[in-house]
Amino acid sequence: MGIRIIGTGSYVPDQILTNQALEQMVETSDAWIRERTGIGSRRITKAGTTDMAVKAAKCAVEQAGVLPEELGLIIVGTSTGDCLFPGTACEVQAAIGAKEAACFDLSAACSGFLFSLNTACTYLKSGEYKTALVVGADTLSKTVDWKDRGTCILFGDGAGAAVIRWEDSSGGIGPFIMKADGSRGECLRCSAMPLRNPFLDKEEDVFGYMTMNGQEVFRFAVKTVPEVLEAVLEKAGVLAGDIQYFILHQANERIISSVAKRIRQPVSKFPMNLEHYGNTSGASIPILLDELNRQGKFNRGDKILLAGFGAGLTWGATFLQW
Ligand code: ACO
Repeated sequence: MGIRIIGTGSYVPDQILTNQALEQMVETSDAWIRERTGIGSRRITKAGTTDMAVKAAKCAVEQAGVLPEELGLIIVGTSTGDCLFPGTACEVQAAIGAKEAACFDLSAACSGFLFSLNTACTYLKSGEYKTALVVGADTLSKTVDWKDRGTCILFGDGAGAAVIRWEDSSGGIGPFIMKADGSRGECLRCSAMPLRNPFLDKEEDVFGYMTMNGQEVFRFAVKTVPEVLEAVLEKAGVLAGDIQYFILHQANERIISSVAKRIRQPVSKFPMNLEHYGNTSGASIPILLDELNRQGKFNRGDKILLAGFGAGLTWGATFLQW
């Protein structure tokens, strides 16, 4: 028995924000952004997280060939839902008619899809549900200060999704590793609704923007991602050389190249799409997964590693056999 991905989907908004357009907004240049990050443009939503999550979910469900009623569970990995409540997963459920599904959101920033996938797999393995929809969707464009060149150049909006099913076949998803270090939360932070009630001495400031210590996040990523990849390979009993694709969170081309170097694998095994979308947070892994799947890059039995990292700090990796 194993858990397989039986359908993928993704959606990015039509509006493209190029580096050249950003040059008009903050003191930066296309050359600087490309050299430091690999990003050329990103997409910006005018409709929000639920809209993107629903569109990606519909594509994944259609490709999986399952009825929405067959879904027992929907988890949306997001830290930028349109509402504090209801959760984005409930809104997706209503929009696609998955009326039997248990629904909740999972907040792990850029690790959101990976943690959601691992959580859904654990529920499926328990026998509680047979089929689940996992979505990663984020609107980072509403968290960045568009006057801060240190962050606004990095992020874009999007959503990706996968339908997974517990099947009578070998391989599938797992093992996985999930890690967190809450003591380092300050280096990438965005506050939510401020405290406001009549008992406060003074009301807190309104919603704050994202703050980031870019260099610390960079150092964290290039150290922890290779470590967690090596650890999950050992857990799976597989060699790095046996892996066809390393699908990493798309934060920065230099981070991905550095990880490839540290685990002594060719960068050609690390597909990237961040040039077109920037860092879409929890959406980046499932968008890339869907693109590769639709390009017919995966063959049955291919060994694939997924790895994510982000605010929390959180990070993790998942081994899967297509
Ligand atoms: N355009 C031009 N110059 C800039 C810009 C910009 N957009 N941003 C910063 N600079 C300047 C700085 O002010 C600095 O100038 P100074 O030397 O005169 O002080 C110089 O460029 C170098 O700045 P650094 O911060 O040292 O640049 P660095 O090479 O570290 O690159 C970057 C910055 C791209 C943010 C990098 O640190 C990074 O990618 N970090 C990881 C960030 C990340 O991935 N975060 C999210 C991951 S988790 C998640 O997805 C939620």
